Amino acid sequence: MARPLKVCFLLHVVFFWVLLRAAALSSARPHSTQEPLYLKFVSNATAFPMEDYYDYVIIGGGTAGCPLAATLSQSYRVLVLERGGVGYGKPNLMSQEGFIRTLMEVDTFRSPAQAFTSEEGVLNARGRILGGSSAINAGFYSRANSYFFRNSGVDWDLRIVNMSYAWIEKAIVFRPKLRSWQSAVRDGLLEAGVNPFNGFTFDHVAGTKIGGSTFDRFGRRHTSADLLSYAKPSNIRVGVHASVERVLLASTSADPGQKPSAIGVVYRDKVGRYHHAMVRDHGEVILSAGAIGSPQLLLLSGVGPRPYLSYWGIPVAHHLPFVGQFLYDNPRNGISIVPPMPLEHSLIQVVGITKSGAYIEAASNVIPFASPARAVFLHMPSSLLNVTVATLMGKIAGPLSHGSLRLASTDVRINPIVRFNYFSNPVDLERCISGIRKIGEVLRSQSLDYFKFRDWYGNREFRHVGPPLPADLSNNTQMAEHCRRTMTTIWHYHGGCVVGKVVDKEFRVLGVNALRIVDGSTLNVSPGTNPQATLMMLGRYVGLKMRRERSRPK
Ligand SMILES: Cc1cc2nc3c(=O)[nH]c(=O)nc-3n(C[C@H](O)[C@H](O)[C@H](O)COP(=O)(O)OP(=O)(O)OC[C@H]3O[C@@H](n4cnc5c(N)ncnc54)[C@H](O)[C@@H]3O)c2cc1C
Ligand SMILES: *[C@@H]1O[C@H](CO)[C@@H](O)[C@H](O)[C@H]1NC(C)=O
Ligand SMILES: *[C@@H]1O[C@H](CO)[C@@H](O)[C@H](O)[C@H]1NC(C)=O
Ligand SMILES: *[C@@H]1O[C@H](CO)[C@@H](O)[C@H](O)[C@H]1NC(C)=O
Ligand SMILES: *[C@@H]1O[C@H](CO)[C@@H](O)[C@H](O)[C@H]1NC(C)=O
Repeated sequence: MARPLKVCFLLHVVFFWVLLRAAALSSARPHSTQEPLYLKFVSNATAFPMEDYYDYVIIGGGTAGCPLAATLSQSYRVLVLERGGVGYGKPNLMSQEGFIRTLMEVDTFRSPAQAFTSEEGVLNARGRILGGSSAINAGFYSRANSYFFRNSGVDWDLRIVNMSYAWIEKAIVFRPKLRSWQSAVRDGLLEAGVNPFNGFTFDHVAGTKIGGSTFDRFGRRHTSADLLSYAKPSNIRVGVHASVERVLLASTSADPGQKPSAIGVVYRDKVGRYHHAMVRDHGEVILSAGAIGSPQLLLLSGVGPRPYLSYWGIPVAHHLPFVGQFLYDNPRNGISIVPPMPLEHSLIQVVGITKSGAYIEAASNVIPFASPARAVFLHMPSSLLNVTVATLMGKIAGPLSHGSLRLASTDVRINPIVRFNYFSNPVDLERCISGIRKIGEVLRSQSLDYFKFRDWYGNREFRHVGPPLPADLSNNTQMAEHCRRTMTTIWHYHGGCVVGKVVDKEFRVLGVNALRIVDGSTLNVSPGTNPQATLMMLGRYVGLKMRRERSRPK
């Protein structure tokens, strides 16, 4: 037991050093000097006027917000307001190797990854940077499953859906190069019966496949911010370090039955000055602040359950009971091992799509040690020099369990309080058990044998970091206990402003004019194995629909 603990400790200690080294390597690459086009229309919001007018004001330059802005700018004047800064050129954010360092480097008000902890005690993260969570994520890219298109409450036009995905893929999605761990997991999944092998595909199909990646062949990250390069430069402004505090809502007449309308937003720049961005006739405010940010801003703007808003002393603009409800997070369970040989670094590249509602993915993180002296200092056996931690993880489809979001403060910079009620629906627990069981089968495959250590008696065994799987994979009591005890998050939280409850099929806020929500907060189910593809698609899709709708003769 002592060894796994030490390995954990060591992981934390050395990430700093490892990633600095990775940073030095990546900044030496010739390609990193080529600046993306979109930087020309990105500026610090301090330089923006105190009041200005646009057709569309988009709150949040994240995964869905950037493709939406680029699309609307083809015909209309668009402003994007992003609370974080620009990630381009920052080595940790730009490289695969910087993934964990970015997640560990958290600061309440500034870091690109804003940590939050659910009431269940699960540590989670929100992107706070141009590109949003697509700028801090693991880069795996895979389209949604057909279940999503049938059950998300939207009348999808699948032709436009496909065009939108393709628009993203040609700009920022790459075919990953599999090395030892990912290849072994692919083979192990096939041995464990996650068939057939579907090769490299963006499509969600049962079996084992290689998915896309937003890291290119140099390991450089691409994000939704790159999609801003599709924008019409004369029609778009992107303000960074612009924290929106409130959507301004006005009653259009003295008639109390009249819907309120969004007329603009109030935001604060880096030096604390307030600005107003107002919308012109036929324009709209669009919330793309993510599953935590969008419900939070609606509440702060007076759209939510009346008694709750009154409790906080927030003037009620519109009573909407389900704001902040139906908040979901997909639990992650799995195992980590230290293999007997150094391994390459890899984030997610392969996925096993089982028929029982579990998705199996893998990662491997290199922790190189410069010297045996360092190992001694960390109380490590020298056999663990240049250690890699290889991980197999399961995500459950759905989930069906849901929780809610409440304000912790009326200061928008303070995380709301969230609760996901993980596994409160027994179906989620069944899916977790089936996923863990599948991971157990993969671990027993021939393909993974190579990653075992040989013990004193010549037996080959895995060297685990953290808890191993229960010895008896067929005992449901033990499996359920394992699911609950070892659960973390795969960061695919969604909901809070779901379709049918807070927004309509066109993503318009129910009962409010000129206000839409376009991001993960509108989803009542996670789209397939990983959500970023579908959230980028959503931005493009809604943008195309809105352009079409406005150009149609009345
Ligand atoms: C660590 C991690 C790893 C992940 N790995 C993967 C993966 O490999 N593959 C995958 O498909 N998905 C992955 N995901 C999930 C995926 O990245 C997210 O589901 C997705 O990016 C969410 O998109 P969004 O548009 O809803 O929100 P976001 O992309 O988070 O965008 C919200 C934006 O709004 C801004 N904002 C919020 N409030 C305000 C405000 N008041 N004023 C101004 N701006 C504001 C935020 O700063 C942010 O930029 C991962 C997520 C994380 C955190
Ligand atoms: C914005 O300001 C910060 C410092 O406050 C600076 O580091 C950064 O380069 C500026 N970014 C842009 C896009 O002007
Ligand atoms: C959309 O693409 C999927 C594959 O990704 C395909 O199965 C489907 O037929 C396409 N639909 C349309 C309407 O083009
Ligand atoms: C560890 O890796 C470094 C470089 O990454 C290398 O110089 C060193 O020889 C390796 N040490 C061992 C024991 O493999
Ligand atoms: C399953 O595990 C539980 C808890 O360890 C134990 O009490 C029970 O007897 C086991 N059931 C079977 C069928 O082995």
